[in-house]
Amino acid sequence: MKLIQKIRDRMAKAADALGYSAMDVAASVRPCNDPTHGHYQANAAMALGKKLGRPPREIASELAASVPLDGFLAAPEIAGPGFLNLCLTDQAIATGLEEMAASPCLGLEAPSPKRKLVIDFSGPNVAKPMHVGHLRSTILGDGLARLFRTLGHEVITVNHLGDWGAQFGILLYGYKNLLNREAFNADPVKELSRLYVEVRKHFAADDEDEADSVDPVRDACRLETAKLHRLDPENLELWKQFMPSCLEEISKAYNRLGVSFDHIRGESFYQPYLADVAAQLESLKIAEPSQGALVVLYGEKEAPALIRKRDGAYTYATTDLAAVKHRADHFQPTDIVYVVDSRQAQHFKQVFDIAKRWGITGPKLHHVAFGSVLGPDGKPIKTRDGKASTTLEGLLDEAVKLAAKLNAPEANDSAELAVPVLESEEVASAVGIGAVKYADLSQNRTTDYKFNWDKMMAMDGNTATYMQYAFARCRSILRKAGHLEGSPEAKIKVETPEERFLGVMLLRYAEVLEAAAEDFRPNILTAYLWDLAKAFSVFFQNCPVLKAQEEGALHSRIALCALTSKVLEAVLEVLGIRVLERM
Ligand code: ARG
Repeated sequence: MKLIQKIRDRMAKAADALGYSAMDVAASVRPCNDPTHGHYQANAAMALGKKLGRPPREIASELAASVPLDGFLAAPEIAGPGFLNLCLTDQAIATGLEEMAASPCLGLEAPSPKRKLVIDFSGPNVAKPMHVGHLRSTILGDGLARLFRTLGHEVITVNHLGDWGAQFGILLYGYKNLLNREAFNADPVKELSRLYVEVRKHFAADDEDEADSVDPVRDACRLETAKLHRLDPENLELWKQFMPSCLEEISKAYNRLGVSFDHIRGESFYQPYLADVAAQLESLKIAEPSQGALVVLYGEKEAPALIRKRDGAYTYATTDLAAVKHRADHFQPTDIVYVVDSRQAQHFKQVFDIAKRWGITGPKLHHVAFGSVLGPDGKPIKTRDGKASTTLEGLLDEAVKLAAKLNAPEANDSAELAVPVLESEEVASAVGIGAVKYADLSQNRTTDYKFNWDKMMAMDGNTATYMQYAFARCRSILRKAGHLEGSPEAKIKVETPEERFLGVMLLRYAEVLEAAAEDFRPNILTAYLWDLAKAFSVFFQNCPVLKAQEEGALHSRIALCALTSKVLEAVLEVLGIRVLERM
């Protein structure tokens, strides 16, 4: 059982005995921010005091007197206006850690109920170079998929590629008018990327919103897209010819990032279903004709959802509706999760609403929205200009290059544990790509963040590099101790405040994973890693491991190092970040 749950159960019993709401009292239990105050804190007394018109401290002391301690909790302390500070006993910490060390999955239990989640992420519009903006959905989605799998749920990952959109019109036009045949034969992806950028230079206006102005090249591109959508043989043939190169291009990026999908199923996959979606929505009176188009109306203040355009073309929304239906029928999931930019909030709100009215009520639909990655100028990064620095590939190259130049910090604890300078390419790639992922995952996903190399590569701070370093340091201690596995049967003794605090941090592993899953927030995991790494550092500075005075402490501390390394590794693995034996 999760640690916090064990404490909540005990607080619930106390509340029950006193006639207070067990649920409210249990829910008020939170981890303590300040370890000197306690391990957990319950603040139900404040709300109860207000409700009952009684001094909260009095209620807190009633609760303190009624909570069953049974060797698990130390006597609670009342602080401030009526906080109840709760500490585990040393024995409870030691037993918990021993159980965790002996468990193959660090004490995680099978989830109940077990969920089946379809996670839709990345979904780049292929046929244009992937850029920094594509990173966030990819990294976040992959992290969430790993998180739910680690918790024991079933996960199906889907890449909803934009493989049928206007970018193909641009390529078709470019291919027909501006192709360098030799270059195409030598490297089709490169030539297609060049064409994409080149054709766009011939557009009159750069912004799609200004598309109504006279713009012959843009119009010609639109015509090519429309022909493709009508399944014009020439354009369809070219589309089929372009797709493998486009897929190869994106799979290069996924390989470097260590990201994979169960299904790559782009928009084109749903084309055969679209006419039927529109017909059903119309006959159910969910959608209605309007000026030759078919729309779902949302009142005065909100733009209608466009199902079929006046020219007969189906839309992004129609495709997503076909996809929801297909996924619901096909996978019968409990949840479908869309990891997509927050600028698409209205799109998903409407798609979810229409799906529900259409009768798709099985799976719960979630839009896991995120903010933009901003450049140094504070504006969202885009690739219109095709500059290497903003392409995904250029970015990852840069990250690896910077990582190769990093120096390990002076090991301030003990010279013999100094970690050598980063050497191999393997290390540089794990560190560089880890840094990029961590920087992204450690942000609150709903806010925008500024891309900052110095911050993300820092050797000390809440960065991947620091966590990888903490891991390598644990492993170096274990190697020196000759106990790489940290002898799981070792008795753990917690005797110092530093051991206690590190121990409780480790015990929080399961509860932190669940907290992160609850609202799809991997930054809860990075915050935990940061706390854990700090707790380990304080422990290590104050509690000699290899030079421990007596045998019992030596083995117990080695076991703590081993468990720390395992938890660091497990959480980094959830984030898709590789650990290194040495750095
Ligand atoms: N291709 C879309 C874009 O770049 C993202 C796709 C997200 N997934 C979805 N089912 N709509 O904006």
